[in-house]
Amino acid sequence: MYVCICSAVSDTTIQQEVENGAKDLKSLVERLDLGKGCARCVAAVKDILEDQLLKIEAAEAIAIPQSSTSLACKAA
Ligand code: FES
Repeated sequence: MYVCICSAVSDTTIQQEVENGAKDLKSLVERLDLGKGCARCVAAVKDILEDQLLKIEAAEAIAIPQSSTSLACKAA
C-alpha cells in the first residue's frame, strides 16, 4: 500500500529501509525522499518506523536467550 503518494513509496519499502539501517524519520526522509510534497504521510511513516523498530528489537531479544542458553550449558 502506498504511504507517500507524492513520492510513490509503499509501506513495504519503508519497512525494508528500516531493516537496512534507517533508524529514525530523518534517515527515512533522506533515503526515500518522503514528506517533501504535501507531508500528509509523516504520521503514517512514523507509525511504520516505530512498528518495524519494535519488530527488530523483539527479534533480537528472542535471539539473545538462545546464545545465553548455550553459554549456560557450557558452564554446567
Ligand atoms: S504523501 Fe508524502 S509528501 Fe505527500
